[in-house]
Amino acid sequence: MQDLQNALPSAPEDARSLVAWYRAQKRDLPWRRDRDPYRIWVSEVMLQQTTVAAVIPFYERFLKRFPTLRALADARVEDVVAQWAGLGYYSRARNLHKSARALVERGGFPRTWEELIELPGFGPYTARAVASLAFDQKTGVLDGNVIRLLSRRHGSDVDWWKPRGRERLQALSDGIATATDAPADLNQGLMELGATVCTPQKPACLICPWSPRCVARLGDRIEALPRKRPRREREIWIWYPRVIEKRGRVALIANAYAPFLKGHWITPGAVRKASVAPKRFDYRHSVTHHDIFVVVGKGETDELAPKADVKWVPRASLKEFVPTTLIRRAIERSTSQE
Ligand code: ADE
Repeated sequence: MQDLQNALPSAPEDARSLVAWYRAQKRDLPWRRDRDPYRIWVSEVMLQQTTVAAVIPFYERFLKRFPTLRALADARVEDVVAQWAGLGYYSRARNLHKSARALVERGGFPRTWEELIELPGFGPYTARAVASLAFDQKTGVLDGNVIRLLSRRHGSDVDWWKPRGRERLQALSDGIATATDAPADLNQGLMELGATVCTPQKPACLICPWSPRCVARLGDRIEALPRKRPRREREIWIWYPRVIEKRGRVALIANAYAPFLKGHWITPGAVRKASVAPKRFDYRHSVTHHDIFVVVGKGETDELAPKADVKWVPRASLKEFVPTTLIRRAIERSTSQE
């Protein structure tokens, strides 16, 4: 409800035109035929990983086998996973089953996203979808399709992959959902418009109910919005830490030589960029876009630069001083070689 105060003046008209469009244009999909929260929930979990066309046969088979929440809760987890075969992400099937048991135990579905999100397998999207589609809660959904639609409609170039950007878009979605008495149709409409009209390439602006007010369209920025998420190439690095120890203390220096963990206290050593993974290494670790293969060596005190700012950390309290596993493992590894 954080957005009731700041809903945009355009929200009621956006909501009205979208609901009217959805009612006239909607596709007849199996999960749109009733308001059963169980059926809606299963469909939303499946739809998060693949397209509508691919989901339909899985959905129908799954519901034949587990027609009710209780049937799913009573099933063996192996059977649920087996019915999921082909959809991928099996943790989703396990979570679905786990949540079904929790839901039966508490006597059915809670009616708000704030309660649903407490259950395993309910993220912000699923919780809001179920609460609005099944129970008419005035909350807006936000998935990839809706992010695209709202970014264009409002000419928003926020970093939607970051929490702040997402919050902005979530507020826009909530703003429209609170401006209608039909939040279920509104949310289905957001997804439908994103999937069928406001597509990533060549959106069908001529038939879009929002095009007269679409900021991206008016500014000729359809192709530029939403912003492209920057995707960095993964890089392979080999790190050769030198573990230098004196009377139970290990030498750390401020990292000025490795491109990962900048500014951390790190063992002295060297790094090398590689194009393929090395054959021999002690362990590997990923930090952001760096794939790091670690080859641990023991060093001597005279390897330290004469004026280096060195912190001597007691081996006994490594956890406290070296919270980063990548670095701590190198130090731990060097004792076990002795
Ligand atoms: N994608 C995610 N949820 C959907 C729904 N309920 N209908 C169509 N496409 C969707």
